[in-house]
Amino acid sequence: MRMALLGPPGSGKGTQAARICQTFTLTHLSSGDILRAERDSGSPTGLEIKEYMNSGKLVPDELTIRLIRGRIAALDKGFVLDGFPRTLPQAESLSLMLLELHRPLELVINFAVASDKLARRFEGRRMCSNAKCAAGYHVESLPPKQAGICDKCAAELIIRADDKPEVVQQRIATYNKSTAPLIEYYRQMGNFKTIDAAGSIDDVTKMVLEKIRRHFAD
Ligand code: AP5
Repeated sequence: MRMALLGPPGSGKGTQAARICQTFTLTHLSSGDILRAERDSGSPTGLEIKEYMNSGKLVPDELTIRLIRGRIAALDKGFVLDGFPRTLPQAESLSLMLLELHRPLELVINFAVASDKLARRFEGRRMCSNAKCAAGYHVESLPPKQAGICDKCAAELIIRADDKPEVVQQRIATYNKSTAPLIEYYRQMGNFKTIDAAGSIDDVTKMVLEKIRRHFAD
């Protein structure tokens, strides 16, 4: 199974990607996690990326594609792409990369949630400070067993630098301008499904797993 998830910031792509990958034994490739790890490494590229990420803007296509390309080429089984592609040039570049690998995308799932429903998701989001783990939580809808501590690796949970309200506004505006056009792009290519991602985490998981099972059974 080779999939990509689209949707605005906070729509649940990362949360559901982890569950999809666990259910079907797939690799979860999150461009946000890859870019955060590079940003926090202190490398010259990381310093360049920091300004874009912390202000809610997209990292330039050329840089993003350079950092993601190797990870895509290394994928040897099914995968879920979360947060990539995010622009038309990224989508076109991804199609070419996957064509060369003879592993085209089989399904694109769009997570639809109105932006006024997202504020609480950012306010309560916590994430694992260990870049290799990067598990996501929410103080109300997905709390860790022990407050402030990751269930999986016991590292401290932190608040993301780009979850401040003013940065969230910029991220949503960036999504509407640069990423939302991909919905039409992938709809026209086929193998495209939209799900209503406004419900609870478990309800969305149920819907998304059902859609995937049906799609791959056809
Ligand atoms: P990235 O990390 O990809 O952030 P994002 O797309 O803005 O998405 P989020 O992680 O905010 O949300 P999500 O949809 O994954 O939701 P989640 O499951 O976490 O990117 C960060 C930055 O990196 C970008 O701004 C950009 O600078 C850069 N970047 C990344 N990819 C790039 C690319 N391809 N090109 C250029 N730049 C790139 O859920 C959010 C919270 O809500 C969690 O706390 C969760 O527990 C909770 N939650 C989830 N679902 C529900 C639900 N159904 N009900 C209640 N709570 C829920």
